[in-house]
Amino acid sequence: MSAAAEGMPPAAGPEAVGEMVREATAWCALHGLVVGDRADPRSGTVPGVGLVHAPFSLLPTHLPVSCWRQACELAPIFNELVDRVSLDGDFLQDSLSKTKQVDDFTSRLLDIHRKMMEINKEENIRLGLHRSDYMLDSETDSLLQIELNTISASFPGLGSLVSELHRSLIDRYGNLFCLDSKKVPENAASCRFAKALARAWDEFNVDSAVVMMIVQPEERNMYDQYWLAKHLKESHGITTIRKTLSEVEAEGHVLPDGTLVVDGRTVSVVYFRAGYTPNDYPSEAEWTARLLMEQSSAVKCPSISYHLVGTKKIQQELAKPNVLERFLENKEEIAKIRKCFAGLWSLDDEEIVKSAIQKPELFVLKPQREGGGNNIYGLDVRETLARLQKEGGDALAAYILMQRIFPKASLANLVRGGVCHEALAISELGIYGAYLRNKGKVVMNEQSGYLMRTKVSSSDEGGVAAGFAVLDSLYLTDKLI
Ligand SMILES: Nc1ncnc2c1ncn2[C@@H]1O[C@H](COP(=O)(O)OP(=O)(O)O)[C@@H](O)[C@H]1O
Ligand SMILES: [Mg+2]
Repeated sequence: MSAAAEGMPPAAGPEAVGEMVREATAWCALHGLVVGDRADPRSGTVPGVGLVHAPFSLLPTHLPVSCWRQACELAPIFNELVDRVSLDGDFLQDSLSKTKQVDDFTSRLLDIHRKMMEINKEENIRLGLHRSDYMLDSETDSLLQIELNTISASFPGLGSLVSELHRSLIDRYGNLFCLDSKKVPENAASCRFAKALARAWDEFNVDSAVVMMIVQPEERNMYDQYWLAKHLKESHGITTIRKTLSEVEAEGHVLPDGTLVVDGRTVSVVYFRAGYTPNDYPSEAEWTARLLMEQSSAVKCPSISYHLVGTKKIQQELAKPNVLERFLENKEEIAKIRKCFAGLWSLDDEEIVKSAIQKPELFVLKPQREGGGNNIYGLDVRETLARLQKEGGDALAAYILMQRIFPKASLANLVRGGVCHEALAISELGIYGAYLRNKGKVVMNEQSGYLMRTKVSSSDEGGVAAGFAVLDSLYLTDKLI
């Protein structure tokens, strides 16, 4: 990824590039690589209205095959780790106890989790659909984890399509660049996630039940979600219903035996594509819905415990010495995971706070939030830390500090709204993982495809939906790192 999509070679003059862009954007329209267009106010609520191609990179980004293998190997280990950590309710509560004091959102999640602990709620069928994100650090030439998403990991649907788009462009224009489409790895993320949802539905074993996707009232990334529903229906015969949290509150109830019924339908699996940000809970109704679902016997993807395992605070706690050893036995697996951990610190470490104030450019300051646009970089790190220190109390506990990773920038062609810009860009590799367990039996534990996101190197943040990055795929090279 750092290693060099070297921009367009001279053979690809502006006409050739222009033609490729038109081919590519037409391909997007024909194959459903689309998102809602911000310019159309109905595009987030009415399917099929106001579509625009998803932003994408014209060619895949180069990645050494060794990094690819390393990242793929980590997926099942992280899946297992999430499951193990989720079972240690006290670890989650204790690790997040200070955060709870200062962060209302985390506090509400912990309240639900505590309630489930009090009633000894057991989740026999546990489904995780995760995405572990990495950057290739140019200072150390190592693959370092940015974060592990355990809720609403986005773009399994569209990400698969970008790999297909790139293969098709390379088949057509590859001789201009000496590229071979076989070096874009197969990416079946949307089929694999659908398969995992279907297997969870099977384990639940109620033929008339549906999968319920929890969605935001307005969602411009809805086609990514519809791709999963399509695979569920066409490959597995399973119906998906879409509900917002407030609809679940209005239309849902739990029967005495634990069955979740929403709008008259039995729900076997609740798949969250909302509920990860405080904005998704504008009133008490949404919290009531979250609690109702958690209390039910439906499979939750994620359960409240899986959700909490994905918080940045837990990421930082797991990086402390001897913590991984509490959850995993295999020493090689522990070493593999540890190798991809960047520096992570809590803010009660005074030395680190001092270093971050002195050299803020080497750190990222992160609150307990998901979805992009929340982190603090550069001089703002210094300012924020100084202000929080002055305020005193526990305000610092709402954040963690992370080593800033510096991927190598290379030229890329980013296409947004039909317009192509060449820019120095950096990339972030996401590896999807699917995990399904029923009591003692691991039904599924696999790497489930990938997502590359590329953004101009001057932008700190990375979200595609948030408008910072474009969707991308990868091109494997033999380069050693
Ligand atoms: N340690 C880091 N070094 C460099 N960039 C980072 C680092 N952590 C996060 N980022 C950038 O910020 C973006 C958002 O951070 P992330 O931890 O993934 O939070 P979110 O939950 O909002 O996605 C990432 O996609 C990445 O581009
Ligand atoms: Mg992220």
